[in-house]
Amino acid sequence: MAVLYVCKESAEGERRVAATPDSVRRLVGQGLEVAVASGAGGHARFTDAAYEEAGARIHDGTGPPDDASIVARVAPPSPDEVGALPQGATLLSFIAPHRNQDTVRALMEQRITTLSMELVPRISRAQSMDALSSQASIAGYRSVIVAAYHLDKHFPLFMTAAGTIRPANIVVLGAGVAGLQAVATAKRLGAVVYVSDIREAAKQEVASLGGKFIDVPDAEDATGEGGYAKEVGEDFLTRQRKVLTEHLAEAHAVITTAQIPGRPAPRLVTAEMVAAMQPGSVVIDLAAADGGNCALTDVAGPTEHDGVRILPGQHLPSDMAGEASALYARNITSFCGLLLDDEGAFRIDLDDEVVAGALLTSNGEVTHEPTAKLLGGEA
Ligand code: NAI
Repeated sequence: MAVLYVCKESAEGERRVAATPDSVRRLVGQGLEVAVASGAGGHARFTDAAYEEAGARIHDGTGPPDDASIVARVAPPSPDEVGALPQGATLLSFIAPHRNQDTVRALMEQRITTLSMELVPRISRAQSMDALSSQASIAGYRSVIVAAYHLDKHFPLFMTAAGTIRPANIVVLGAGVAGLQAVATAKRLGAVVYVSDIREAAKQEVASLGGKFIDVPDAEDATGEGGYAKEVGEDFLTRQRKVLTEHLAEAHAVITTAQIPGRPAPRLVTAEMVAAMQPGSVVIDLAAADGGNCALTDVAGPTEHDGVRILPGQHLPSDMAGEASALYARNITSFCGLLLDDEGAFRIDLDDEVVAGALLTSNGEVTHEPTAKLLGGEA
């Protein structure tokens, strides 16, 4: 029987865990033996005893047990942690290969079969494994709650005997999974929401949630492969920033979520644009880990510029560790279903487009072309 090991996360600020007692029950039901690092679920409030009761064995060692053939984690491992993986094991994790090239090299050296959760194809059959979406939904929701907490202003229109307070203006940059969730949450709280995106399809999605789309003059649809956005040129970004400057000056909260897969985040908010914002307003940058959509975002923590608070948002899913872990664990469990044949034997089936699409390293090589180019110095 194949052994799946659930790591205790070590990355700073990472509070999630790749399995919950509920998902352990499902994994065991699928025919896997599950070992969980002692204390792995601590931040998400899942105890060792709960995992044990669900059918896992608790592992007290510092690294994975030698018999682990599948290792599940949330945050990318450090190169040292990769060195502690059993040679030839299969790893299921976020890797963010474009920012963690040393980790990718270590994965090759250790001959790890890496299935990178951010590379799972965005196709209908793989929706239950789409960890980018499950975590982005949480980030989008939470970003609005955090913005509301930091503002000394109501979100909704507020009518009192003493007078009427106008609703808050919220600007959301990027209308993907996180952005749309932010729009929906801000609308539910009663705010007026303006949205910018560069994919044509986003317009209708924003409108259906009651958001107002910000048009950029002479914009072309920048939909790229797989429905993701293509990188746009500096010329377009300059025009986009010009339009956004006016909206940001009126905004109480700005939530930025714009990303281009495998590339640094587009720089949509400059220091000058922040300087033109109202004191007391807040920017929450969900693209902080990829360089940030705002020039003044500090990935290390909140900063304040001319009375405008700027918060990096990379830990928002982790701040809701219990639910974020529960959704991520379901993504992992679902993926594990593809790694077992009808008799319950573990195998990597490269004829399956989801497995092949998520494969980052195998047999000492990088199998994901953009990452191979990056490591080869071509990108
Ligand atoms: P993402 O996290 O890669 O990017 C967030 C958003 O930023 C995207 O909407 C993108 O168009 C936008 N963006 C990029 N550059 C921008 C700029 N300069 N200004 C404004 N916005 C900019 O996107 P996410 O959330 O991963 O979704 C990407 C696509 O995948 C979407 O079309 C989404 O509908 C689709 N999708 C499909 C799924 C499926 O079929 N199973 C599941 C989830 C998403």
